[in-house]
Amino acid sequence: MKRVITYGTFDLIHYGHINLLKRAKELGDYLIVALSTDEFNWNSKHKKCYFPYQKRQQLLEAIRYVDLVIPEESWEQKAQDVQLYKVDTFVMGDDWQGKFDFLKEYCQVVYLPRTPEISTTQIKEDLST
Ligand code: CTP
Repeated sequence: MKRVITYGTFDLIHYGHINLLKRAKELGDYLIVALSTDEFNWNSKHKKCYFPYQKRQQLLEAIRYVDLVIPEESWEQKAQDVQLYKVDTFVMGDDWQGKFDFLKEYCQVVYLPRTPEISTTQIKEDLST
């Protein structure tokens, strides 16, 4: 069984997220999403989530492409996760192109093209104007 992992905040899930998750799942048989905790988002990514972790987790678990959701609590945990969950392929959107190439020591690293013209930040901005 081929295992795939991806990381992100996935707040206010939109079709860009779904496209990413669908294509990630197609790279293997079992998709793990490491979901940024509220603390990690706030302290390290400087993002305030609309939905708290538990709600974002519940939404992701309801998506057919997602098999397991684990917490992302630090930038440093990726190499450990990849080994712990016996991951074959690490996937991120290409806004992160090249940033995680150090994981090639442990698994395949794939950057998928982002879906244009949609982001959680954009949704929040559009709704506030
Ligand atoms: N993603 C994507 N296409 C989009 C938006 C996001 O492929 N239009 C991907 C990202 O590249 C990442 C994953 O979805 O691999 C989770 O992204 P996240 O940062 O949670 O979503 P954004 O909508 O980009 O959120 P924000 O605006 O808060 O950064």
